[in-house]
Amino acid sequence: MFEICPEAPEDESEVEALYDLCFAPGRTALSSYRLRDGVARVADLCLVLRDQGGILLAAIRFWPVRIGDERALLLGPIAVHPTAQGEGLGAILMRDSLERARHLRWSRVLLVGDLPYYQRFGFHKLESVIMPPPTNPDRVLGLELRPGAWVDLTGPVLREDAQTAAGLAETATHSHMEPECTQVAQSGKHADESQSADGSSADQ
Ligand SMILES: CC(C)(COP(=O)(O)OP(=O)(O)OC[C@H]1O[C@@H](n2cnc3c(N)ncnc32)[C@H](O)[C@@H]1OP(=O)(O)O)[C@@H](O)C(=O)NCCC(=O)NCCS
Repeated sequence: MFEICPEAPEDESEVEALYDLCFAPGRTALSSYRLRDGVARVADLCLVLRDQGGILLAAIRFWPVRIGDERALLLGPIAVHPTAQGEGLGAILMRDSLERARHLRWSRVLLVGDLPYYQRFGFHKLESVIMPPPTNPDRVLGLELRPGAWVDLTGPVLREDAQTAAGLAETATHSHMEPECTQVAQSGKHADESQSADGSSADQ
């Protein structure tokens, strides 16, 4: 049994340690981090996955960004502990967080990553959406949570202003639109997610 919950302040150092373990040193020097500096995360979508013993096995975070006047979610980092990779936990965390994002009425998601992994969740290459340099344009990927949300949307990805981001974080914290935690019945690529404690289905 695994449990997926929104990241709490007391999770922060463990999540940072997991990211340090899974990514190359200097990860925060990546250009995508310039879009995150000083901007509040989207709290309800930053999730931690723990096993029955409370061991942190995976984490995902999201930030708000802008393309022109339109808002988007920047997905990442996502990481699964090296001892648990390839068992489907990354996919569970992707699907759970994207479902929560849909319920919270976000329209579109953006990430910088490997298309061969992310296309299974519906991501495709964004042709004219430009991440801060130096970013390989082939790795700029998008997903529509609302049909057509990426159509005709072009231009540079911009940092959300701190005040708006803080408002988004505040709204999310008090929305109560999604169950706080999701129980995952079993490990493996075909794991079923059980009903959450409040009875809402967290199925994909
Ligand atoms: C990438 C990551 C989040 C995937 O999570 P996971 O739980 O290991 O992956 P899953 O079990 O959900 O999926 C496994 C499948 O994804 C594939 N996969 C994993 N990483 C991949 C990558 N970077 N590119 C292409 N395919 C990848 C595996 O080959 C496997 O394929 P299969 O289903 O055909 O056997 C995890 O491996 C990880 O934390 N890696 C290190 C940090 C990282 O690279 N994060 C992503 C930044 S873009």
